[in-house]
Amino acid sequence: MSEALFDQAAEDYDSWYETEVGKAADRVERALAQSMFQPSGSRVLEVGCGTGQYTVWLAQEGYDLTALDVSGEMMAKARAKISAIGRRVQWRQADIKEIVSEPGKFHGIFSMTAFEFIPRPGEVLAKLYERLEPGGCLLIGVIAGNSPWSEFYEEVAREKPTSVFARANLYGENDIRRWQVGGRLELKQCLFFPPTVASAKEALAMEERKSGPAGFILAKWVKEVGIIA
Ligand SMILES: C[S@@+](CC[C@H](N)C(=O)[O-])C[C@H]1O[C@@H](n2cnc3c(N)ncnc32)[C@H](O)[C@@H]1O
Repeated sequence: MSEALFDQAAEDYDSWYETEVGKAADRVERALAQSMFQPSGSRVLEVGCGTGQYTVWLAQEGYDLTALDVSGEMMAKARAKISAIGRRVQWRQADIKEIVSEPGKFHGIFSMTAFEFIPRPGEVLAKLYERLEPGGCLLIGVIAGNSPWSEFYEEVAREKPTSVFARANLYGENDIRRWQVGGRLELKQCLFFPPTVASAKEALAMEERKSGPAGFILAKWVKEVGIIA
């Protein structure tokens, strides 16, 4: 189901990162995500790697990385990027729901803008949490519901019902707090400028001020040492 959806999006997916607003949004999301992801060792799983926007960074960090995605077309783009930089990644084309309870533990699990498309995210995240080594962390980033960005994507979905955004569920901090994942939860926000911002300069100035609703939420669960689950 998700596979067909993102297979169609693969060709144009990276063009967003070439736009002025896309570059500014990527810059602020990436800075926060990268600062929050602190695995307790080398084994890392990326869920919903897509075209490899973050896979390249994770591989360059030197992690023993498994990158998973249900879309073969999205993953093909990621594979090409990793091959171009001469790094090694274990690739897994699968629906996370189907394989989430497989054996094998990770020091870190990382996922950006994928849990909007995964049904019952709280249940899947709780199972992923079980696969963390003690001290490990599970970090997700999601588009914030009830924000200028969720309104923008909802409008895209209304105008184009075949868009991936027609299948997205957008969550707020309170939704995420209700998910029974485990461990200690840390929430942070970014993207304090709207998608209609006039320029990157204006976007970054608004980001400094941090006023108004945020468009992106980072949620991290840390499995404290001594907790076995
Ligand atoms: C919006 S893209 C994000 C890709 C990448 N993480 C990024 O930040 O650019 C969402 C990705 O999640 C994948 N995805 C959606 N549902 C999935 C599922 N159930 N299992 C595995 N991957 C899934 C999609 O195929 C897609 O590549």
